[in-house]
Amino acid sequence: MISKAGLGSRTQARSWIHAGRVKVNGKVVENPDHWIDFDRDRVLFDDKPLQVQARVYILLHKPAGYITTFKDPEKRPTVYDLIRGGINTFLSPVGRLDLDTSGLLIMTNDTQFAERLTNPDHKVAKTYRVECADILPESALDQLRQGVVLNDGPTRPAVVRRLEGAWLEIRITEGRNRQVRRMIEAVRSKVITLERTRIGRLEIGTLQPGEWRVLTPEEVREAAPTSSPIRNGTSHPAADARPRKK
Ligand code: URA
Repeated sequence: MISKAGLGSRTQARSWIHAGRVKVNGKVVENPDHWIDFDRDRVLFDDKPLQVQARVYILLHKPAGYITTFKDPEKRPTVYDLIRGGINTFLSPVGRLDLDTSGLLIMTNDTQFAERLTNPDHKVAKTYRVECADILPESALDQLRQGVVLNDGPTRPAVVRRLEGAWLEIRITEGRNRQVRRMIEAVRSKVITLERTRIGRLEIGTLQPGEWRVLTPEEVREAAPTSSPIRNGTSHPAADARPRKK
């Protein structure tokens, strides 16, 4: 949407569009919700090329004990404490992780990319390592594989693999609130430890808790299934590809 291009607030963008100050491919834009393709469309503001905000994509190893919201009334540490100083544009988490969940969290200012990763219709797999309170019987793993009924409806079939002891690997293509914890409760156990290790092709790799790195343009291109080519994925001057630790 044009109001996402860094033109100012949504209200300001609307008033400038209504005043006829924005042109896309030579035509004055009339609809403030007009979708633009930043790679192909030529956008002018007062007849000057619009400086489109660079898109930034980072992969953070969220430690347990950090929340994924920007502000916390209870003053608990947030993921923004971990990236502050390294990135000077506002990034939003792509999907949430619970306070006690650790692992792979993508943060970006590209809302279309985020939507492609989180929209359940795109069936992007999220993989978790789960330590349960009990060693679950094979019948419980089968139930998880087929789908269990939660209070917001049945879950889709999941890929479930037994690891060491009470640890499982679970791969799901939805991202409902506390989904993995509720799935384990549905088979009468409890989650002790929950870590996200993958989203689609993106892996946590060797990043340590609290470390983050910028995604490469190839990773950005391949991460989201129906993505149009994104040419400037890591072009933000504040970002380079080295892992960072707060
Ligand atoms: N499922 C959960 O229960 N919690 C998370 O943080 C992520 C997936």
